[in-house]
Amino acid sequence: MAADAGGKRSIRSWLEARLNLTEIASFLSVFGLLPAELDTRKPLREALDEALSRPLPSYARWPRIMGILSFILFLVLAVSGMMLAFYYQPTASEAYGSVTSIARDVTGGTLVNQVHRWAATLLLLILAARIVRFYFGGMYGRSREVIWMLAMVTFVVATFADLTGRLLPWDARGYWTTVRAREVTDALPLIGPLFSFLVGGSGLDSLVLTRFYILHIVVWPFLLLALFYLHFSSVRRVGLSSVADGPGSRSLRVVLYDLLLIVVFLIGALATLAIFMPQSFDVAADPFATPPGARPPWYLLAPHALLESFPPLVPRFLRGLFLEALFVAVLLLPFLDRRAGERPGRRPAAIALGALALLVWAALIWKGWHLEGPR
Ligand code: HEM
Repeated sequence: MAADAGGKRSIRSWLEARLNLTEIASFLSVFGLLPAELDTRKPLREALDEALSRPLPSYARWPRIMGILSFILFLVLAVSGMMLAFYYQPTASEAYGSVTSIARDVTGGTLVNQVHRWAATLLLLILAARIVRFYFGGMYGRSREVIWMLAMVTFVVATFADLTGRLLPWDARGYWTTVRAREVTDALPLIGPLFSFLVGGSGLDSLVLTRFYILHIVVWPFLLLALFYLHFSSVRRVGLSSVADGPGSRSLRVVLYDLLLIVVFLIGALATLAIFMPQSFDVAADPFATPPGARPPWYLLAPHALLESFPPLVPRFLRGLFLEALFVAVLLLPFLDRRAGERPGRRPAAIALGALALLVWAALIWKGWHLEGPR
């Protein structure tokens, strides 16, 4: 075994002589799991000690944990999703049987399935909350435009990941939720036709299910991974606060303990939700029998309500175009709002507008839910 600087033999020094451990550990900082940059030319211990002695970067300071929480949830989804993929069969005739058998016959199957479902719900909620926080905190000002746009696009990609997942069990609820969701996406010029092209049509049959599966387990996860990477890269470059990095009252060591606590808390919360609030499967899907109260998933309720609010004379593609224009306007907000980046107290108009937009969005969700009868 190789000896380290102090002359002691250790597994770390043995490995260090054969692998660049610092480079491997620096992957953690690339994805925000270690809020410090490591000098990959130095041995791990030295690089860590050096990082520990540096002031804490602004993006690692409390309460900035949404990025890290969302990435951990993404990891939970990838691991639980891979476990489910061992038993899941992506054809219309086998899908329902395979997911019910995962829940019934496979040891720990129900837990993994429920953790996957709840992690998806929490991920979307956190990604949405992150956008709200960035807006009200004015974190989309000069040089942080990319962070804002990435947050918006990540939320949209995550909703597509969720949507493609909902069809996979091929139960009545998932099937009809997807049918109603596709009525919304099909109204969107460009995005609607592109999505139909990817899945091979606007109907829902066995081949479409298989393409949903490929999108779900390969395309969206890789896109999300790339988006997370870009987000953390930009955050490391420009930080999350316009206030310069000071010495900071907490050290990196304390931040790492906090991070460990957050992970433990998150796993505990997921296990609690999965065990005490399970989301059960519906009966197998019947494409010829629409169940009462079939509606799009929660994140499409407001767009659904907006689409249905137009007078009947307005063509559907024009309504879709309006929705897309709205999205582009919000995406380009950092370039439209010249006072972005100033403290909330100095942007009363933007804060009032944001609060109004949230209220209108909540009202649209309520309306979207009540457009259909009870379930
Ligand atoms: C590598 C990543 C992923 C893999 C391999 C994966 C795999 C799977 C598989 C095999 C199923 C069907 C089995 C079942 O329903 O129990 C499923 C369902 C599902 N997935 Fe994923 N998934 C991944 C990522 C995601 C992401 C990123 C989201 C959401 C943001 C997501 C949301 C869902 C949802 C909502 C379901 C339906 C669960 C249900 O109704 O039981 N998945 N996933």
